[in-house]
Amino acid sequence: MVLDEREERVAKFFRKMKRTKCLPAHVAIIMDGNGRWAKIHNLSRSQGHRKGAERVREITEEAARLKIKVLTLYAFSTENWRRPQKEVDLLMRLLKFFLSREIKNLKKNNVRFECIGRIEELPPPVVKVIYQAKQETRKNTGLVLNLALNYGGRTEIIDAVNKIIKAKQSGQLTPSDIDEFGFSRYLYTIDLPDPDLLIRTSGEQRISNFLLWQISYSELLFCKKLWPEFSAKDFRNCILTYQKRKRRFGGI
Ligand code: FPP
Repeated sequence: MVLDEREERVAKFFRKMKRTKCLPAHVAIIMDGNGRWAKIHNLSRSQGHRKGAERVREITEEAARLKIKVLTLYAFSTENWRRPQKEVDLLMRLLKFFLSREIKNLKKNNVRFECIGRIEELPPPVVKVIYQAKQETRKNTGLVLNLALNYGGRTEIIDAVNKIIKAKQSGQLTPSDIDEFGFSRYLYTIDLPDPDLLIRTSGEQRISNFLLWQISYSELLFCKKLWPEFSAKDFRNCILTYQKRKRRFGGI
């Protein structure tokens, strides 16, 4: 793909966004607070994550209804491997179960499934269901549900640099190819616009290594609700707050 094509694709996203009253084209969410929610309700962390998975379904359906183009959800970070093995195993099982159960629903809602991160390092049964979900939804034209799995923003940048070095060594690159657009072609998000809105639930105000390059001009919204209690209405309220913001992209 040449650079002009990508610029045109991004410009096309912006043109469409204007027609839809500044609806964010891409919303990214750091789904935080499953563990705290479970504690407050005297439940296990596993139950907190299960409840969190239910919210993934609800918010995906709402985003599809609102005609948002891309919803990126931070489901498992490169740092999450540091959690107790039991919790990591539970999250992997939940992911596999969720994806295999949801494929039908994604198809029904015309949702295309994508994911970003070092997918090949995930357990093989999870990788298998990821490819199946991608394959079976590839022709859908509505919302792109993009799960960040084994994802780290710094890792993504390092992976991009290594891909660039390889491309350079095989003579596919000239130095002038690497401007901002050129660099972003090597990120996991190559075909996606940058997020317009980044939401983090649970009251924490951190980025936690999420989409470091892509959120340069995103609007940030920190919501006090814990992820398992974050409803479709909360999501719509976040969109409304976003629509009241004035974005200047460094201009005046
Ligand atoms: C943060 O809560 C959440 C995660 C580390 C993973 C997000 C996972 C889900 C929403 C469920 C499974 C996802 C899918 C796509 C099926 P936390 O455990 O850090 O909460 P705490 O900070 O309150 O302990």
